[in-house]
Formats: sequence, structure tokens, C-alpha cells
Amino acid sequence: MSIPEAFIKAIQSTSVPQFKYYSSIDSTNRIALEWLENGTPDGAIVFADHQSSGRGRFERKWVTQPSSAIAVSIIVRPDAREQQYLPLFSPLAGIALVDVLKHTLQLDAQIKWPNDVLLNRMKTAGILTETVWNGEELLGLVVGIGVNVLPQSIPPKGLLQYPATCIQDHCPFPIDRFEIMAALINAFSFWRSQMHLTEFMNQWQKTLAFRGEKVYIKQKDGTVQLSGILSGLTANGDLEILSENNQKQTITAGDVHLRPAEPEN
Ligand code: ATP
Ligand code: BTN
Repeated sequence: MSIPEAFIKAIQSTSVPQFKYYSSIDSTNRIALEWLENGTPDGAIVFADHQSSGRGRFERKWVTQPSSAIAVSIIVRPDAREQQYLPLFSPLAGIALVDVLKHTLQLDAQIKWPNDVLLNRMKTAGILTETVWNGEELLGLVVGIGVNVLPQSIPPKGLLQYPATCIQDHCPFPIDRFEIMAALINAFSFWRSQMHLTEFMNQWQKTLAFRGEKVYIKQKDGTVQLSGILSGLTANGDLEILSENNQKQTITAGDVHLRPAEPEN
């Protein structure tokens, strides 16, 4: 397997201690979880040019087409303080990507709660965090991030539950996906160091999609659990919705899906 020069150069601009590169693999999260259990250090990454069985939340499929996307899994071994913020690791990846899109490409991306990244209301990245425990002891987390970069990365409409896009479609100049990957890893480290600060929650709030708009919360079976105006986040990252009778409702991330009140969704 030959590793692209541009990938190696990009990794050298980060503090990634070890990496695995695959031209094709079933899922980078699966490999990273195995690697985590075998003692790999904090910050190690697994990257794949193509995933044949990329996974999303709730055992959904995540499509990674060859040579057009970022499919990366970051191994995290949280210290004692970070262990108090485990639910924030997925939003952390979303916040990091939004930051990179803003500062390297001047793109205004938003986070569809809890952590999908949207450009112009279409999904350009998904995040799946998986945790490994040994009884009561936390071995670590794998934060898997899939980003559509070039147009070939966008899956056929029939496979999608929500409209998709890619970064290149919003940018007038050619994008180097390995540079974006490296910037994402660096931004992930930066925002990780901010997780205990209010600035972290402020950043998440600031980039929240559909704020002030009418939204639905759907359950797994498709039934609408609640609808109302999305007013923001609570201090611990739950979603706040003002229902029709002006009652504040709080939704915890889990087996629910947020949708804007548009007929096609
Ligand atoms: P939610 O329902 O929780 O709001 P979601 O509909 O985006 O989010 P997830 O489980 O977060 O669902 O993501 C998996 C879904 O993402 C798949 O069911 C598919 O619809 C979509 N998907 C798969 N691959 C891609 C991709 N490369 N780009 C955009 N969307 C994708
Ligand atoms: C989602 O939106 O449901 C999450 C999608 C997460 C996809 C990434 S791609 C890299 C990593 N490997 C996987 O199998 N999944 C994550």
C-alpha cells in the first residue's frame, strides 16, 4: 500500500504520534477501536481513502467514496478532567470542523445538533464517537469524522435521509483534502483544550443550525415527538425548544433526530 506524499506532509504539520493509512478498509472506527484496545497512544489516527462499510449513528451506513473525502478516526484517552465532559467529544469534532472551514476557506458552516456539519443547510460531515470501557474503567474514545470534500463524495440521493453536499461545491478554488484533514486534527486539539471553558459552549451555540426556526424532533420510528422554535443549547449541551404553548422543552442527544420544518424533510 503506498501512502500519498501529500498525506504524509499534512500529518507532519500536526502532533499526531502514530497513524494508519488505508487505501480501502471497511471502517476506520473499527480499526481505531481495535488499536485503542491494544494500547495505542492518545492522538493516534486512522485514515481511509475509501470505506466499504463506513458506519454512522444507530448502525446507519456512512458512504466514503474513493479519493474524494476525509474518513478519519482519532483515538482519545481522556484525562480525569476530560472524563467529566465525555458527551462533548462529538460536538468538539463538529466545532473543530466549523472552525477550519471558517478560517481556512471563509465558509460559514453550521452544526445540526448534536453534531452534523452543514453547509447551506446540507450535510457535509458526520461524526460518530464510540467508547471502550473495561468494566468501570474508561479505556478511551474513538472520534470518527467523515467529511465530503469533492463532488464525487456525495452519495446518490436514494441513500440519503437528509440532503448532502461537499466542501468543494461551496468554494471557488481547488481544495486539498489532506490539508483540511491536518487543519481539522489541529483544531480538534485546540478545542479539546477548551472543553471545560464557557467559550466552548459559546462556540457551539454560535454555530447552531436552525436557531430561531421552527423544527421537529423525530423519534427513531419517524413519529414527531415535538415541534417548536429552536431556541439554543442548555449549559450541558441539551437542545432547547420552545413549544407552541411557549413551554421550554429540553432534548438530550440520543435516539432522536432534529429536522427543520420544511416539507422535503
Ligand atoms: P439525524 O437523523 O440524527 O439527524 P442523520 O439523518 O444525518 O442525522 P446519521 O445517523 O447522523 O443520520 O447519519 C447517517 C446518515 O447519513 C445515513 O443514514 C445517510 O442518510 C447519511 N449519509 C451517509 N453517507 C453520507 C455522506 N457521505 N454524506 C452525507 N450524508 C451521508
Ligand atoms: C453520522 O452522521 O451518522 C456519522 C458518520 C460518521 C462517519 C465517520 S467516517 C470515519 C469514521 N469511520 C466510520 O466508520 N464512521 C466514521
